[in-house]
Amino acid sequence: MKVTMVATGYVGLVSGACFSEFGHDVVCVDSDERKIAALNRGEIPVFEPGLDAMVAANTEAGRLTFTTNLGESVAASEVIFVAVDTPSRHGDGYADLSYVYAAVDDIAAHVQDGAVVVTKSTVPVGTGSELAERIGQRLAELGRDISVSVASNPEFLREGSAIEDFKRPDRVVVGAEDEATHATIARLYRPLSLRNVPMVHTSRETAELIKYAGNAFLATKITFINEIADLCEQVGANVQEIARGIGLDGRIGSKFLHAGPGYGGSCFPKDTRALLGIAEQADVTLPIVDAVVSSNESRKKRMADRIIAACGGSVEGKTVAVLGLTFKPNTDDMRESPSLDIIPALLEAGASVQAHDPEGMREAAPLLPDTKLMTGPYEALEGADVVVIITEWNVYRALDLPRVASLMNQPIMVDLRNIYTAAEMQQAGFTYYSVGREAIS
Ligand code: UDX
Repeated sequence: MKVTMVATGYVGLVSGACFSEFGHDVVCVDSDERKIAALNRGEIPVFEPGLDAMVAANTEAGRLTFTTNLGESVAASEVIFVAVDTPSRHGDGYADLSYVYAAVDDIAAHVQDGAVVVTKSTVPVGTGSELAERIGQRLAELGRDISVSVASNPEFLREGSAIEDFKRPDRVVVGAEDEATHATIARLYRPLSLRNVPMVHTSRETAELIKYAGNAFLATKITFINEIADLCEQVGANVQEIARGIGLDGRIGSKFLHAGPGYGGSCFPKDTRALLGIAEQADVTLPIVDAVVSSNESRKKRMADRIIAACGGSVEGKTVAVLGLTFKPNTDDMRESPSLDIIPALLEAGASVQAHDPEGMREAAPLLPDTKLMTGPYEALEGADVVVIITEWNVYRALDLPRVASLMNQPIMVDLRNIYTAAEMQQAGFTYYSVGREAIS
């Protein structure tokens, strides 16, 4: 099938590359000429394991191309995906759809009869129907007597494992208003249905809400275990054992029960806020989601206090080593990372911060201008009064603890991802604070 992917951001690029891997002819379009020129040279603008090799192989096979010429590729496509950014609108947190509108207006001018326009971007409930109307109006204005349908096909890709998530999803959700459109999208995902991946065929509104409800539920699960972790610290219980103890109940499930510094990233914070915006417009209250958003925001802010407490109540004039800056490992994405709340608060309290991240330092540099970015984890530890693990990158999981202790002024660790055990830290002579577990001093 011939497919156009509008926008070469994270979702567009991963989805475009994976559809070409399925055997479709995919053209990825972006108005940013420099980005397209870089992609044509084989340079991938985002860090995602396996993406560069997949793009190279499919470009080589002639199934994946990059262009700024939207008209030409849309005119030749049966399916056109809209994967443009939908940032949070300033002030109200509601998703900003201006890029989506601009994309569909351009598409309407070139689209062929019978084509399907599909939203991959996360858009508020009702957007698909609004876009169908908008495209219809635009076609009428242009005197184009053709029929185009609009579908919703939300993505559930996790950064760092996006390719695996695309090729082996738990499910594919398709929202459309007629059988022919459902059938077109089903053909696109045929390689997955052959592997018995469940396809959820539903209405556009339901598909749009599945995306928000899914992300809000996962954000709730994380926030719940984080609150239980706070309680564990006060009553001497262990949150990891609680997560295992409740997660083995099949009705609860063991995933997304890792306590930490609070969720971040490009989706959960934005989508939970957008869901609240959608509910408000519909005159419905969502007290649980509301509580999750505020609990997570205040948690990220409170994390700096733990570090200050670990240093005896003040970090004035002290050096804090930070390991991990991105919102999670295997990405260079800094969006809404807990590090962006924690580090400024430490600087404000008079600390100097030297940090390391395996992939995120280029993104982090302009966001954390007063942080010393170091070439490696051990460089960041030199002369530190405390080390804080914010992101659980693999390289931090097996640190040479005697070497860590010898580089630091005093061996104090605040492990916000629970990657070490109390026993090994005690043996290495550390004062050790983690999340939802007993402190070792
Ligand atoms: C998420 C969804 O998982 C994905 O389906 C959706 O399409 C986009 O948003 P992503 O933001 O890439 O993906 O990362 P994810 O792995 O879900 O983690 C999100 C945040 O939650 C991170 O900050 C992570 O550290 C945190 N998290 C996750 C926890 O604190 N504990 C957990 O148990 C799981």
